[in-house]
Amino acid sequence: MTNTVAIGIQWGDEGKGKIVDLMAPDVDVVARFQGGPNAGHTLVIGDKKTVLNHIPSGILHDDTLCLIGNGTVVDPFRLVEEMDMLLAAGIPVVERLKISERCQLILPYHRALDAAREAAKGAGKIGTTGKGIGPCYEDKTARRGIRLIDLTSADLNDRIEANLEYVNFMLTQYLKAAPVTRADVDEALDLARARLLPLAADVPLILQKRIKAGERILYEGAQGSMLDVDHGTYPFVTSSNTVAGAALAGLGVGPGQVDAVLGICKAYTTRVGAGPFPTELYNAEGKCDAENAGKHMAEKGNEFGSTTGRPRRTGWFDAVVVQHAVRINGVTGLAITKMDVLDGLEEVKLCVAYELNGERLESVPACCAQLEAATPVYETLPGWSESTFGATALDQLPANALALLRRIEAVCDCPVSMLSTGPDRNHIIHL
Ligand code: GDP
Ligand code: IMO
Ligand code: MG
Repeated sequence: MTNTVAIGIQWGDEGKGKIVDLMAPDVDVVARFQGGPNAGHTLVIGDKKTVLNHIPSGILHDDTLCLIGNGTVVDPFRLVEEMDMLLAAGIPVVERLKISERCQLILPYHRALDAAREAAKGAGKIGTTGKGIGPCYEDKTARRGIRLIDLTSADLNDRIEANLEYVNFMLTQYLKAAPVTRADVDEALDLARARLLPLAADVPLILQKRIKAGERILYEGAQGSMLDVDHGTYPFVTSSNTVAGAALAGLGVGPGQVDAVLGICKAYTTRVGAGPFPTELYNAEGKCDAENAGKHMAEKGNEFGSTTGRPRRTGWFDAVVVQHAVRINGVTGLAITKMDVLDGLEEVKLCVAYELNGERLESVPACCAQLEAATPVYETLPGWSESTFGATALDQLPANALALLRRIEAVCDCPVSMLSTGPDRNHIIHL
């Protein structure tokens, strides 16, 4: 196994940053293939915490090349800010990072449209991260997007003018919002030209050379499978394919160049933003189960968005979701994170099926209204009072924690290859 796709298989924030960072020393290249600054990947090394939005989670390692692929969307302001944060910490980002010349730029009008559309939706809003992700991917498929390489193109001015005319009509006439000025857009373009264009590269060419030389590639996903625009809880999803297959199109590699798919999930479930969540126990709007297990997860797990700071909704591990993700991604191994957060609970539950109108459902219904109405069928296991925090070997786990792990493997029909027991890079058990 050399070239692994590491992806989130719930609703995001599964701990991808931590897992990718700890795998990075064993690979030569870490590459992002979709998403943009909606992602917030946290890396903890000792008392230092780093949150990455665009930049692959291998950036802290010497000798690791980091690539941002064509399938991503890049906000020049945010990416430059992220680079400067790392440069200030002494990380030689410019030497370690290459950006696909084909990646799409998030421009100020994308953020304005995202905000205005969400405001117009009112209570029916998706709860996006507000980073302009949806409008940018829309422009990409509508073939009016501006790619990094287009900064060098002679017709850039005409294309920007045409886009501004269109978006400002939408903003002012339809959404009753303020227009975006040409100066705002130029500021983003100038910044991208000065700081990002020098890092632009033919990413597929780099990857093929590296793969041919026998180097190892780690493909890092963003968001999670339930936020995938095709396979997730549509329309409460992000605007890209987040599944393992997207690594191929989002970087320009072939199916034979992926050997393994690591599905990263928490030992429970969280979601931020709106949309169905069958095993939800707790949210900031006031929902709380009688046993307070959801509140325990939110507090002990410090469940606040890494990018937006929004409180995350919490609930039990949903094996129906994870089974769905194992299928659509061809997951070959699971990485279970945040096991330590369950320490101290009297019992833990796994959702093994849903019930809808007296019928038992074994897979995730495609219809959001049905998923919303579905009731989880739980298996209950005894909890543990001992601490698993920071455990690095299976024999340090209480018997009931080990039993939960084995039950997850059996129910999801997938081996667990890693168990994370704390936020730090070293808090890990390899199975
Ligand atoms: P990502 O988007 O998938 O990279 O995940 P986030 O970084 O948004 O959220 C995961 C949060 O959990 C971060 O604050 C991590 O530092 C933290 N974390 C990751 N793994 C563990 C773990 O095993 N235990 C605990 N307690 N925290 C963890
Ligand atoms: P990482 O990579 C959790 C969610 C948003 C919203 C929906 C659409 O850190 O796991 P968008 O801004 O993408 O149009 O929002 O997707 N979402 C995430 N939730 N983790 C993320 O990324 C997310 N990226 C987007 O909350 O529900
Ligand atoms: Mg995150």
